[in-house]
Order: sequence, then C-alpha cells, then structure tokens
Amino acid sequence: MRRRLSEYGLFFRECLRNFHATGAIVPSGRFLASALARFVGNGPAGGQQILEVGPGTGAVTRRIVAQMGPDDQLDLVEPNDRFVEQLRQQFETDPALQRVAERVRVLHCPVEQLAHGKVYDLIISGLPLNNFSVADVQGILAALTGLLKPGGTLSFFEYIAVRRARALLSGRAERARLRGIGRAIGAVLDQHEIRREWIWPNLPPAWVHHVRL
Ligand SMILES: C[S@@+](CC[C@H](N)C(=O)[O-])C[C@H]1O[C@@H](n2cnc3c(N)ncnc32)[C@H](O)[C@@H]1O
Repeated sequence: MRRRLSEYGLFFRECLRNFHATGAIVPSGRFLASALARFVGNGPAGGQQILEVGPGTGAVTRRIVAQMGPDDQLDLVEPNDRFVEQLRQQFETDPALQRVAERVRVLHCPVEQLAHGKVYDLIISGLPLNNFSVADVQGILAALTGLLKPGGTLSFFEYIAVRRARALLSGRAERARLRGIGRAIGAVLDQHEIRREWIWPNLPPAWVHHVRL
C-alpha cells in the first residue's frame, strides 16, 4: 500500500511537471494493465523478447513480470529521469521484480532513439499519443513497427473518445492535430488490428488495441 501511494505521488508530480509526456494523472489501473499484457507468456520456444515503451512507475511492468515465462526477456524504454531511477531501484529491492531482474534492462531514452538493431516479439506501449504532434506520432508508430519482428504483436491503449471530446473544446489548429493523429493511428489499425478490448473500469476508460504485423 505504501509503495503504491509513493508511486501515485511520483506519477502525479511528474504529470504536473510535464503533462505533455506523462499524459495521465494516475498510473494505469489493473484491468488496463492486464489487457496490455494479454500476449505476455505466449511466446515462442526459447523465450519472448518483450519491449515496454513508457513504463512510468511500473504499473503495467508488474503485470508483464508476473506473466513472463522463464526464458522471456524484457526491455523497458523510458526518457523520464525520475521514473528511470525509481524503476531501477524497484528492480533491485522489490522481491516480485528482483526475481526477473537479470532478464530486464531499463533503457533511458525516448523510444524513437532506440537504435540497437534488436527486434521484439511483443511491444507494449503506454505512450500518450494524443498529446504529441502528428509528425511525432507518425515517427513513433514507424519506430514501434520497425522494432517489431515480422508476426510480432504491438499492444497499446488510448482513452476512449478522448480525441472527439478534446476536439469539441478546441480551436481549428488543435482539431486538425487531433484529426491527423486519428488518421495516423487509424492507418495502422485498419491494416493490422487483430483485437480491441474495452476497459471501462479505468480512469478514464480506455481501448486496448492489439496489432499484428
Ligand atoms: C501515460 S504514461 C504511462 C505509464 C505507465 N505505462 C502506466 O500505464 O501507468 C506515459 C509514459 O510514457 C513515457 N514517454 C513519453 N514519451 C516517451 C517516448 N518518446 N518514449 C518512451 N516513453 C515515453 C512517459 O515518461 C510516461 O512514463
């Protein structure tokens, strides 16, 4: 309980400091985390290579870790200094995470800068795409699909109807940005979405998209 409160505190402070990159006031709830981790643990023989993008305080990471098979490996990519420090400390001290710590790397950079030649069976993204410019969203989606193995799965979420709600309250430039993001995400979903989950018990409610290339 104390750990969770401290994670909520850190997340909220980072949200106030940089809402653009943090994108929410609280970490994802357990139903959203479970849906995002839907394909963890169903990997090929020899283990699944998993990338979590934007782990924040680790709400989804904990679900991923709980489901990881004995040969699975997990990379976390996070640009926020404070989240990185907290995650590294948790993997050193928390028994639930220590168990897999040797198979986990915390990479301190934005996902667009991840250029190490490694590709993944599964990518789980917590990025707040609706906060970014259209060009950034296109760049991020290209980076994510480029990091996936052929046949690999990308799971990501967006808050239900948030673009439509924000567009109602926005001026012309902001509406154009939101439409552009909708088109960029829609182009990926139209071609590759294999499953969509509706997560009502989350603040706010969310869709989880699972995409297979
Ligand atoms: C909405 S929070 C999600 C945090 C956590 N996954 C959860 O569900 O509670 C978005 C996270 O994405 C991170 N982030 C923002 N831009 C990023 C980027 N370009 N590459 C990787 N992570 C990024 C933020 O620092 C933050 O940790």
